[in-house]
This record gives sequence, C-alpha cells and structure tokens, in this order.
Amino acid sequence: MNRPLTHKINVAIDGPAGAGKSTVARLVAEKLGYIYVDTGAMYRTVTLKALRDGADLKDAAALRRIAERLDIKLLPESGGQRVLMDGEDVTEKIRSAEVTAAVSTVASVPEVRRILVKLQQDMALRRGVVMDGRDIGTNVMPDAEVKVFMTASVRVRAERRWKEIRGQDPKATVESLMEAIERRDRADSERETSPLRRADDALLLDTSHISAE
Ligand code: DC
Repeated sequence: MNRPLTHKINVAIDGPAGAGKSTVARLVAEKLGYIYVDTGAMYRTVTLKALRDGADLKDAAALRRIAERLDIKLLPESGGQRVLMDGEDVTEKIRSAEVTAAVSTVASVPEVRRILVKLQQDMALRRGVVMDGRDIGTNVMPDAEVKVFMTASVRVRAERRWKEIRGQDPKATVESLMEAIERRDRADSERETSPLRRADDALLLDTSHISAE
C-alpha cells in the first residue's frame, strides 16, 4: 500500500516495570517527532491524589470519583514529559516510594482504568503517538501499527531500578528491589481487568543484554 511520507503511525510498548519501555519510547518519539505518552504516570497521578486525600484504596467508588475529577496533563518536553495534576507539577512526586507501593492497587480498579483508557485513546486518535504501559497493545490501541512487548530478567530490572534510586534511597538493595518487582509483576499480571499480557501481534524484545540505543 502506498502511503504519503507524512503518514503517522501509533507505536505501543508494553511490558513489566524496568524492562526499559520508557527509555526506548522516549528515544523513539524524539527521533520520529512523535508524542510520548507514559500511561503509568497517569495511574501514578491518580494514586498520588488518592493518598493525599486519604482515600480508602479499597473503595472503588471513591477512586472512580477521584479519577473522574482529576485533571491530568502530560506536557512533552525534550527528553521526556512533565506531569501536571490539577495544574501542579507532580513529575517527581509520582515516583515516590509511597506512590510506587500503592499504584498496583489503584490500577486494578476497573472504573479507574475505564476513565484513563478513554483519555489515552483520545490522545492516540490523531496518531503519531508512542505510548507505553501494560495494556496498550491489547486494549488501549489494539490497532497500533507497531507493537512491542519488552521484557528483561528480574535481576537486570532490579539493577536498573537500583541505579536510578540509590541516591534517594541508600537503604535499597538489588535483592529487596527484586522482591518488590516480583510482587508488582504478579499484581499486574493477575488482575482481572486488562492484565499485563503480550498481544498476539506484538514483537517480543528481551532487553536484558542490549542497550536502549
Ligand atoms: O510503568 P509504571 O511503573 O510507572 O506503572 C505504574 C503502575 O501502573 C504499575 O503498577 C502498572 C500500572 N499500569 C497499568 O496497569 N496500566 C498501564 N497502561 C500503565 C501502568
């Protein structure tokens, strides 16, 4: 099929935490002049708001109300994006240990997912999007032209995470991070709504021993 050179496609990148999705998604978006959408950041933003409000994380209706009312903006900037929550810059705050520990619970609530998936689909409508997450190729953009499922060994993923956070959290060890990663993988893969799963038509990419470039 002949397509004009300006024809834009959508790229879906899924996989577990630490597989290198966001690094690669960012590089690809920059190269192509596409918009990078970090959907994990959206689940993290809802989680931060819920924690601040002292919401009961088991109360699906309360979480739905929070997600419905929340204004989440992803602002592209060179090399990444800034995240605004009701106008407040929360780019760094959504990476805290508290948010990271609670986000799987919030992301398992179907009502929250429905609201965020709709926002993500709206962003992808005009194409030219590189989106990373857990259910992008299977659920958010099943029609994406390119789908990649990235993975890496638990040890490699824990080592990457350790290098990222050792400055802020000197107590963190690769072993403790391996445990946390395995716990989160299990929660993300075993949840009922849109579990982490490779789409049948996604390329499988093991990044354990290859660089982002
Ligand atoms: O990629 P991340 O670590 O920032 O994702 C945070 C959490 O959100 C993680 O527990 C998985 C969940 N998530 C999800 O369920 N669906 C997505 N599309 C993206 C993230």
